[in-house]
Amino acid sequence: MTTQGSLFGLSPNPHHLETSATIAISQEAKRRKAAGEDVIDLGAGEPDFPTPSIPADAGVRAIREGKTHYAANEGILELRAAAAQQLSLLSGGRPVNADHIVISNGSKQSLFNVCFSVFGPGDVVAIPAPAWVSYPQIVHLTRARPILVPGDPEWGLKLSVRDLQRVVPGAQGLILCSPCNPTGSVYTLAELKAIAQWARDHKAWVIADEIYRRIHYGPGPAPSFLDLPDDLLERVVIIYGVSKAYAMTGWRIGIALAPPKVAKAMAALQSHTTTGANHPAQWAAWWRSSASGASSSSAASARTSRASSSWTRWARSTSFSAWIRSAARAARTFARG
Ligand SMILES: Cc1ncc(COP(=O)(O)O)c(C=O)c1O
Repeated sequence: MTTQGSLFGLSPNPHHLETSATIAISQEAKRRKAAGEDVIDLGAGEPDFPTPSIPADAGVRAIREGKTHYAANEGILELRAAAAQQLSLLSGGRPVNADHIVISNGSKQSLFNVCFSVFGPGDVVAIPAPAWVSYPQIVHLTRARPILVPGDPEWGLKLSVRDLQRVVPGAQGLILCSPCNPTGSVYTLAELKAIAQWARDHKAWVIADEIYRRIHYGPGPAPSFLDLPDDLLERVVIIYGVSKAYAMTGWRIGIALAPPKVAKAMAALQSHTTTGANHPAQWAAWWRSSASGASSSSAASARTSRASSSWTRWARSTSFSAWIRSAARAARTFARG
């Protein structure tokens, strides 16, 4: 369809696009609260407490130190190194290469970047339903076709390889959220492994949205595709971020770990859209504990952050566990974030 012949003069790009229902609900809740109504907002999902002072102060410090200019398109090395180290720590110390990490303005942008990089017209992308509202919209924007595949109500609304083979045998991709918003279900490692094998055998991409990995009621972090061996990860992109577990929704920092070619395409894509993620916010997400002194953008600092990142120290600290428990409490108030 040409732009000229299209509805209202719009190109076909946004034809299927609907405004985010969860954001609309939250705006309505805010409006009603401002009007004095007693409202519980079950719209956008975010912790109901402020960003802890350590990352908040790191963000302020970054601004004061002049870290306010353009940063590398793929994100600052220090944050990519710290994120690689934390993902490694969460998955039993497996190697994670910081060069395959791309930082974006929120994991929503990471999701868009990866979908736009690997899907296109004619592709079919499976999404277990019920699903977070943005997945089908993002897939529409790539001109691929999202297919909602109902999860099994007898099985925590999860999707099996059998379901994929039955409903979308030729799918080029799957967007899988675990722990899942909105169902809360958590895929076991065996289930993730079966899906990764399916993806490898079918040459399909798995976009693994693991943004809620730290908000998990079982022991330790929820199982991840990163707990699987490398040979099962050739077509898997992991999406992670600081919004939910660190109460940093407004800072807009998302993290993607992707095979090298995909990571390169994602960075190139955002070099022409947003240029990169908000620079001082990247330092807030990276933050150093106040005890370790001022931050530095030098290469030496990058090496230090690789060896002993603040994320790692925080992940190990007791206060972090207490903090995560309170984040989990807040998560109970989430609806469809
Ligand atoms: C499942 C899921 N993925 C991704 C996001 C996006 O998070 P952000 O862009 O704040 O990193 C959300 C936010 O509500 C979400 O619920």
